Amino acid sequence: MSVETKRGIVVAGREMPEFRRIGVEPLTGACGAEITGVDLRSPLSEDVLHEVMAAFEHFLIILFRDQDISNEQHRAFSRYFGELTELPQAPTYGGYTDMQEVRREAHEPVTVVPFTKFHTDSPFLERPPLCMVMRALDAPKYGGDTAFANMYLAYEELSDGFKETLSRLRVVYSGRDIWSKNAKLDKDKQLRLRESHSFTEEQLESVHPAVRSHPRTGRKALFVTPSYFKRFEGWNEEDSRGLLDHLAHLPHKLQYQCRVRWKPNTLIVWDNRFLQHCGIHDYKDERRHLVRTTIIGERPI
Ligand SMILES: [Fe+2]
Repeated sequence: MSVETKRGIVVAGREMPEFRRIGVEPLTGACGAEITGVDLRSPLSEDVLHEVMAAFEHFLIILFRDQDISNEQHRAFSRYFGELTELPQAPTYGGYTDMQEVRREAHEPVTVVPFTKFHTDSPFLERPPLCMVMRALDAPKYGGDTAFANMYLAYEELSDGFKETLSRLRVVYSGRDIWSKNAKLDKDKQLRLRESHSFTEEQLESVHPAVRSHPRTGRKALFVTPSYFKRFEGWNEEDSRGLLDHLAHLPHKLQYQCRVRWKPNTLIVWDNRFLQHCGIHDYKDERRHLVRTTIIGERPI
């Protein structure tokens, strides 16, 4: 994407592009930026869209406040990023098979929402999601942020020898057993999963490289996450566990992170390929309701 860089300001590990049509305020030095001057109720002009996409590629999370949009406007904006998809496990929203919701009612325990640890979404698919476009309908007054970690930075700081080892590894991800595992839990500990879907068993398991590259820039990032992880290809589960535990610790380093504080009508787009994320359930007795679309990504390379 050819947007000029602002000389000298390095953020998210690269020189920051210069933006003329939109306001861009980085959230931290690692990832994320708040965008201003854009109204998502209307189609974006070509030059504004170009800068929004440049901000997305650079910061991996772009955040917009006060976007009181309809489901149709949400879906229309999402299509700038690619083709929308349904997911086999995530509950749908609003009667659309290609919208999902993350909902925890005020009386519900934290266990109702999946993955409160760092993860990427749906890595078991052959083409895991490129990004999500998520909007808050209800958010706790305080707490309930989502944290993100930049996995380019996590990879780039590894030693050369370790990078070399990781470059040869592939990971088996599978979503086949999540329903049967969930059914075995006590009722009050069960996740809210989608009850039926039309995906085949084959579509619920894939093998992906442990280090993936951006298809345009070639920049590399770690693509290992504990959710849906089965093993490294050619390794057994016990051998895999030690290395997985080490890699799963990396997104916890503060220097790779930003946090998004939700308010009603906050909308974010986050890159699911090169970030890991987790919801922070540090609140009680309040409703948190986020709705989203999911955009299909490329097969990881
Ligand atoms: Fe997630």
